[in-house]
Amino acid sequence: MRTFLTIYVLVIAVTVSILGFRGSLTEKEPVEVFNDMDRQAKYKPQAENSFHANRQNDRLPPKLTMSRGNALDVKNVFNPEFTAKSASEELVLSGKGANGEFSDIFPYSVDFELMQYGQESYNIFCMTCHGVAGDGNGVTKPYGILATSYHDDRLRDAPDGYIYDVITNGKGLMYGLKDRLSNKQRWAIVLYLRALQRSQSASLESLSTTEKSELGL
Ligand code: HEC
Repeated sequence: MRTFLTIYVLVIAVTVSILGFRGSLTEKEPVEVFNDMDRQAKYKPQAENSFHANRQNDRLPPKLTMSRGNALDVKNVFNPEFTAKSASEELVLSGKGANGEFSDIFPYSVDFELMQYGQESYNIFCMTCHGVAGDGNGVTKPYGILATSYHDDRLRDAPDGYIYDVITNGKGLMYGLKDRLSNKQRWAIVLYLRALQRSQSASLESLSTTEKSELGL
């Protein structure tokens, strides 16, 4: 009987203490056993900071870091009514030509620097799923992400603008990367993707005599 009474009283006490205080408001400071991150020293955006010469918290983004948006006209691209002004700008933005179809014109002049930029970006943003050689053998494959191989005729013949559009807006299971990569970076990846395709399908005839002799052929 004694045990029963003790348990009975305990159960009532616990029930009342859990349910009894639900929903009641108080002005008092809460008891903080562990205060988690409720109070912390931090720098708020656009606040003052005596540490920096210009007394601002905000810093300019470091060199070579990603700029979000289109990097074309900062004031305009965040405007919902923004439309490209010229055909070449439209091509850079959407990969489409004047006729509204995906274009095969590459909008930047191609050099080794752009190719390296593409390779670097590809290795960061695509390689995990598509693999080093673009054959779909990425580290995510065992987890069921079957990224398409670039080495089939359909993608070899697809216009540059189409590849650009896949990177921009995604396709099927693949998400688009327009919020993470600038236009130029996406085009640089298209360039590198073409190099990857070539690396797996170059024919002997397409090599120059010098290249052939370099390879001992
Ligand atoms: C999270 C994994 C993942 C990442 C990262 C990723 N992809 Fe994909 N990608 C996929 C999957 C999955 C598909 C197949 C989509 C489908 O058809 O449903 C695909 C398809 C594609 C296709 C073929 C589209 C077609 O017409 O079949 C291309 C081209 C492509 N990706 C390029 C890229 C490039 C370039 C990058 C880097 C900028 C990239 N992907 C990053 C998973 C990824």
